[in-house]
Amino acid sequence: MKSGIYCWVVVIFLLCMVSGAVIAEEANEKQINGLRLVMQGLLEDTQQITTGIFLQDFSQIEVAANKIANHPSPGMATKTKLIANLGGEMGKFKQFDTLVHNTAVKLSRAASNEDMTAIITAYHQLIDDCQACHAEFKQRIIKILE
Ligand code: HEC
Repeated sequence: MKSGIYCWVVVIFLLCMVSGAVIAEEANEKQINGLRLVMQGLLEDTQQITTGIFLQDFSQIEVAANKIANHPSPGMATKTKLIANLGGEMGKFKQFDTLVHNTAVKLSRAASNEDMTAIITAYHQLIDDCQACHAEFKQRIIKILE
């Protein structure tokens, strides 16, 4: 009787190990694309700016704005896919990125001048710039990079 229960425990344990391995494998296959990683960084930096504004921490705003202005590249593999699929629209996509870059530079300067009015203006502009690219490209590119 007792050995029957032990047997079930062992079987259930083994089943859990196997299904755990399958889940881990699926997660590996769905490796996150380079652009999404860059975007997650931009979100963190934007959150840092928001915190900096409400805590009047000008250096926090400046550091985070500089990070946005000099964000990393999504990498060659992602870029190649984007160029192949967007073709002539790649220029427009890049323009949105330049827009965010220029606004982040403005925000960083406003922070180094400790000019809260200019910071808030640039902050609003930054959110508009992020959203402008998302409205035009986000859903399409999610499909391209899937
Ligand atoms: C040049 C175009 C462009 C600009 C500018 C842009 N984004 Fe994105 N963003 C995208 C695209 C395309 C995706 C979809 C990527 C994907 O999921 O594969 C995306 C996705 C995201 C996501 C979702 C990430 C996830 O894990 O699903 C966040 C958050 C984000 N962007 C934040 C920002 C912020 C903050 C800014 C401005 C500071 C910004 N983005 C500016 C194109 C842009």
